[in-house]
Amino acid sequence: MSGAPGQELVRFDRVTLTFPGVNGRPAIEVIRQLDFRIETGEFVAIIGPSGCGKSTLLSLLAGYLPPSSGRVLFRGKPIAGPARERMMVFQQPALFPWLTTAGNVAYGLKLKANRGNGRNVQSTVDALLHLVQLDGFAHHYPSDLSGGMRQRLEIARALAVDPQVLLMDEPLAALDALTRRRMQGEVLHIWEKTRKTILFVTHDIDEAVIMADRVIVMAQRPTSILEIEEVRLPRPRRREDPELAGIVRRLSALLE
Ligand SMILES: Nc1ncnc2c1ncn2[C@@H]1O[C@H](COP(=O)(O)OP(=O)(O)O)[C@@H](O)[C@H]1O
Ligand SMILES: [Mg+2]
Repeated sequence: MSGAPGQELVRFDRVTLTFPGVNGRPAIEVIRQLDFRIETGEFVAIIGPSGCGKSTLLSLLAGYLPPSSGRVLFRGKPIAGPARERMMVFQQPALFPWLTTAGNVAYGLKLKANRGNGRNVQSTVDALLHLVQLDGFAHHYPSDLSGGMRQRLEIARALAVDPQVLLMDEPLAALDALTRRRMQGEVLHIWEKTRKTILFVTHDIDEAVIMADRVIVMAQRPTSILEIEEVRLPRPRRREDPELAGIVRRLSALLE
């Protein structure tokens, strides 16, 4: 298990991130004095203007980048680099085209199994494909799958190593509108079944409010938090709900 619900999982403690200037170009301060915490099991959405530093924030959490100052803590310890406990899911799934659906999911699992974890690979692959509703597609290749199916496979692959948090960087942005709506439901289903903590970056304010327990609204660069909105509406949420629409309007106005 990844800690009890309500326990602090992630903490940004006065985090600043400045990319150094290269080839005579000036340094870019992307994140300034960022402070927030995320609890185990939460679904947190992050919205903000394009280029404000949302992907950079996820990179800090993934351990791809160290902060310039301040601390990024995971379960109370500074993040030292990438690890299976923190898995990134990208907008363009980075699947292995030469492996089947099952092969893609099994890949990370086998790495993990080789390191002494004795879980049964086949039954875990089956369970994950079932979770993301790809039963029956185990022997298909990624090129045979639709965009939504590929994205679900990418999530199953990330889940195979049993991470504690999924870092999702605009995971649905490449999908058509209808598929995107369906996938919002799918991601919530996966969250409800697995109770993984999810950090979900999106451009789409509706999507953020429909899905998340809390929406973190980021300011222009150098970014920090403009506001954190707690969305207390019960699920499943409806776009037509006037209360939901009101929250969306207010957050949109904040970002204008
Ligand atoms: N490796 C890098 N070196 C220099 N600047 C970068 C690097 N990565 C991102 N940036 C800059 O940092 C800013 C924030 O980028 P990013 O986190 O990708 O924004 P967002 O995901 O919110 O659109 C942008 O201005 C981008 O050009
Ligand atoms: Mg981005």
